Amino acid sequence: MSAPLNTSHAGARPLGILAALPQELGDLIEAMRAESGVRTLTHGRRDYHLGTVHGTPCVVTLARVGKVAAATTVSALIHAFDVEAVVFTGVAGGVRGDVQVGDIVVASTLMQHDIDASPLFPRFEVPLLGMSRFAADAALAERLAAACEQFVAEEGAACAARFGTREPRVHRGLIVSGDQFVASAAAVAALRDALPDALAVEMEGAAIAQVCYEYGVPCAVVRTISDTADDHAPGSFVSFLTGIAGTYSNAILARFLGAQHTAG
Ligand code: ADE
Repeated sequence: MSAPLNTSHAGARPLGILAALPQELGDLIEAMRAESGVRTLTHGRRDYHLGTVHGTPCVVTLARVGKVAAATTVSALIHAFDVEAVVFTGVAGGVRGDVQVGDIVVASTLMQHDIDASPLFPRFEVPLLGMSRFAADAALAERLAAACEQFVAEEGAACAARFGTREPRVHRGLIVSGDQFVASAAAVAALRDALPDALAVEMEGAAIAQVCYEYGVPCAVVRTISDTADDHAPGSFVSFLTGIAGTYSNAILARFLGAQHTAG
């Protein structure tokens, strides 16, 4: 095992914040730089940015795309940076019919939609763990959802007018993850059939939730809906990611971290 990194945060254990892609983090690292300065450590080919943002000591990093990338990164946050809890922010494809582009989903549970060791184990079950669904931390998810509701109440109408989306709704429930970008009507219909309570699909959340479960670290996941995982998904994803995702992320994280700081 490699030596632990010197990540001292003046006593307080930091919050780990991660996203897959830079656009999904918005201006978080710049905000940290302005507030406290940033110390950047490179570990396992990733940059970890340490500092205080919106009053909360944080380690901010990019997981990159997919379950392995996410599991590797969150494992480093836990073991090398001793984070107290983990929050993942980013975009997802809407799966349930009423989850539309511009909406926000806060996970209450997460599962891998593409894990299938049947007939040896039930479809969707993580072999030898005996579980398919991993719960987000209830208190953390509650605070994240409250930040989303506050954002929608304060800026939802203006956001919708600016971006030509409908006024955002906040949903809470199951997010499913897999190593596929889901981009056809047939594929999203198959997901709906197999997992009727799935709200949204992405490529990292369930891996984060599993690792956090195994190490006893609280986690929460928030996703803004960039597409509806159908044939229009690639175009919708790219324009949402480049034009809108950062605005949502900034607005939600500012409220969440501000409240976290006051609460903690
Ligand atoms: N992230 C955003 N949209 C997605 C989709 N359609 N499939 C998988 N991950 C996504």
